[in-house]
Amino acid sequence: MKEELKLRIYGDPVLREKSTPVEKFDEDLKETIKKMAELMYKVKGLGLAANQVGIPKRFFIMDIKQKEGTPELEVYINPEILNAEGYTEYEEGCLSIPGYYAKVERYAKLYIRAYDLEGKPFEKELTGLQAIAFQHEYDHIEGILFVDRISPLKKELFKRWWKKREKELVGK
Ligand code: NI
Repeated sequence: MKEELKLRIYGDPVLREKSTPVEKFDEDLKETIKKMAELMYKVKGLGLAANQVGIPKRFFIMDIKQKEGTPELEVYINPEILNAEGYTEYEEGCLSIPGYYAKVERYAKLYIRAYDLEGKPFEKELTGLQAIAFQHEYDHIEGILFVDRISPLKKELFKRWWKKREKELVGK
């Protein structure tokens, strides 16, 4: 993969695709993840899913520590949520919907399984922001966006807001 990764914005059909599993844990995958990390850090995102850069495969990256100045890249390939409990709420945003924020309800605690860059499986318990970010990214690879999880009224307002926003973005 030589070309630059391009961030896909709300309305792009790839964001609505249910991603398919990663089968090859090769150099291409590592290179893609490296580029995704560069992009995520450049725009100061909390996380980035593969379909947000046009690749409908089941993997995403996140970093909840960068805000504190101690970046720690997390890579989740072919992730699965094995158990989830409790509820929490957090004001979420998304790199693919720039400028919009809304409170979303999420599970407070997760137990997950995923694969690392070498294709080795691992399991982990996630809480707090890490659990919230994981669910947001996991939604992405299922073709779900956080604006799908807000109330119907808020969704209507969002759609109206987005119409104006979209013109600004295209006008750039
Ligand atoms: Ni997002």
